[in-house]
Amino acid sequence: MHGVNLDQLGRRDPEQYGTLTLDELEVHIGTAAEELGLTPRFFRTNHEGEFVERLHRLEGLADGLVLNPGAWTHYSYAIRDALELAGLPAVEVHLSDVEHREPWRRQSVIGELCVARIAGKGPPGYREALERLQKELSA
Ligand code: DQA
Repeated sequence: MHGVNLDQLGRRDPEQYGTLTLDELEVHIGTAAEELGLTPRFFRTNHEGEFVERLHRLEGLADGLVLNPGAWTHYSYAIRDALELAGLPAVEVHLSDVEHREPWRRQSVIGELCVARIAGKGPPGYREALERLQKELSA
């Protein structure tokens, strides 16, 4: 699940986010998922309420989730509460190294609900997130 401004990848600071567009990133994630024997579904939005409503409707659609909520990570209690409601194993991913950027990016309101947080590894971080999720699902 890709949150706010992720659809602008390819136009954002390449030092932080690399040069892949979101479509290209999804191809990368999709390939990794298939190699791991997982069936990926993607969701992207710039609208917080849509992100929340998608989390409300995950039952029966997914066994777990990998999410990069973008800036919402740092302050959206609405997304935090919806993630709690979803009740599925979740891995938080960030392309950039949020621990070593502006101090406000260190805060994650969803972190306590996620089994892992992977940041600063670029697109390969999503494969790692899927592997972590798979481990969680088979535990
Ligand atoms: C991001 C990091 C966030 O701080 C930022 O607001 C984003 C992208 C990342 O993938 O590195 O939009 O989640």
